[in-house]
Amino acid sequence: MCSRNWLIALITFVAFSAVVSAQRGYYDDLPPGPYCALKGCCPGRLDECSAPILGTLCYCDDFCNQTNVMDCCPDYWSHCRGIPDPIPVPTTFKPPEIRACTYQGKTYTFGETVKNNCNLCKCEQIGNTVEFLCERNHCMINELIVGTVNRERKYGWTATNYSKFWGKSLDEGIATKLGTLQPERFVRNMNPVKKIYNPNDLPRQFDAYREWPNYLSPIQEQGDCASSWAISTAAVASDRFGIVSKGQETVRLSAQNLISCDIRGQQSCKGGYLDKAWAYIKRYGLVDEDCFPYVDHDVLCIIDQYGDLATSSCTLPPNGRRSKYVVAPAYRLGNETDIMFEILKSGPVQATMLVHNDFFSYAGGIYEKTDIVESRRTGFLSVRIVGWGEEYTHKGQLKYWKVANSWGTDWGEDGFFRIVRGRDESEIESFVIAAWPEIERKRYPSIPVPLTPEYNLQLE
Ligand SMILES: *[C@@H]1O[C@H](CO)[C@@H](O)[C@H](O)[C@H]1NC(C)=O
Ligand SMILES: *[C@@H]1O[C@H](CO)[C@@H](O)[C@H](O)[C@H]1NC(C)=O
Ligand SMILES: *[C@@H]1O[C@H](CO)[C@@H](O)[C@H](O)[C@H]1NC(C)=O
Repeated sequence: MCSRNWLIALITFVAFSAVVSAQRGYYDDLPPGPYCALKGCCPGRLDECSAPILGTLCYCDDFCNQTNVMDCCPDYWSHCRGIPDPIPVPTTFKPPEIRACTYQGKTYTFGETVKNNCNLCKCEQIGNTVEFLCERNHCMINELIVGTVNRERKYGWTATNYSKFWGKSLDEGIATKLGTLQPERFVRNMNPVKKIYNPNDLPRQFDAYREWPNYLSPIQEQGDCASSWAISTAAVASDRFGIVSKGQETVRLSAQNLISCDIRGQQSCKGGYLDKAWAYIKRYGLVDEDCFPYVDHDVLCIIDQYGDLATSSCTLPPNGRRSKYVVAPAYRLGNETDIMFEILKSGPVQATMLVHNDFFSYAGGIYEKTDIVESRRTGFLSVRIVGWGEEYTHKGQLKYWKVANSWGTDWGEDGFFRIVRGRDESEIESFVIAAWPEIERKRYPSIPVPLTPEYNLQLE
């Protein structure tokens, strides 16, 4: 339950031996000024409707007054609502003789700091008193979300406090745990491929890991590198080499190859575009994980981009392959049943998900975004859809996707999560893509060549 950085909360106030607690407005300590008076007042939620204040932003839109997040500009109430400040400013106090703050039952001396999750709190002098002031950043793990999801039986999932996320701000999480840049409009508007099948023939549940246990990629841990774009792309391509070649070309392709070498228009550990990643693999191919292992930061491209496996000083695979692993043009899948058919026939697909703050604390069950704590900050994560099913939950019968994430096996359901299927939950069905691996046909003549027009849509 926090807010944008500048927002400072009065938590406890102690003066001399008598405890005086004061209900004060959150903006009492902020510089007054004509913020909304200059900016204007906006309806709904308009992120542009903001003004700079103390190195960050305050807002003049209707959305700024919420139960959990308050980030209205100081003159929002008087200027936009025509009402006085809702919380009266208290009368002034005498200077304290003992300079100490209490916070959650503990006493802190003047100037002392303590960290509360992702926020630093400090016993500071404000005016003529001392107050315990905390930053109010949104945190990756929010106690209110964890508590509410687990206590109220209306959610189809459970939440937990991940110690590896505790103490980090939501902004840090978005900057280091996601890493998928929103595709350009022309890519997003690409027509999906047309598929011909009978939807009634699709099984009610399917798990690629049961179907092809030996060919699929393990769950990875991206660390503090926003590389989901590279990890999910390399994993989907790897899975498909194994599946399409029926195990002749089982491989774990290098995500680092993409992070370090696919740098034109990409941002390495700060995120990347999926269409560009697939275009890179189509053009240059990838080496395997042993040849260019994953490190969770940017390193120089060490492989020969234009050459084959041998010139990249990789160990050649025992199956005699010499060329790097190349794919055909990526294609887009348009709806729920098309995605299911594709996974059933050719293996996992890649999806992009709009991540809200509650997703970081997902522990198990069927995820659906909650509105327990609204935050304007979201980001895109790319993941690998590996199957689907249905399950009875507190919310009734729910259809779900089974999805592989890249936050390690200690997150979610052994590194996977399930998410509501068929309703474009968190945009998971909006941009689903896959590509066909280029199997070396000379060596595997029995493997069927995919037919156009099913696999002919380019994303470049
Ligand atoms: C601000 O939000 C609170 C909580 O939703 C509500 O009770 C209050 O009436 C709102 N204030 C105004 C002026 O709309
Ligand atoms: C969450 O985990 C961290 C580290 O394990 C711990 O310090 C913190 O108190 C926990 N928070 C809650 C609310 O349980
Ligand atoms: C999904 O798209 C296919 C065409 O690719 C179409 O035949 C099918 O009816 C669509 N299904 C739904 C549920 O819209």
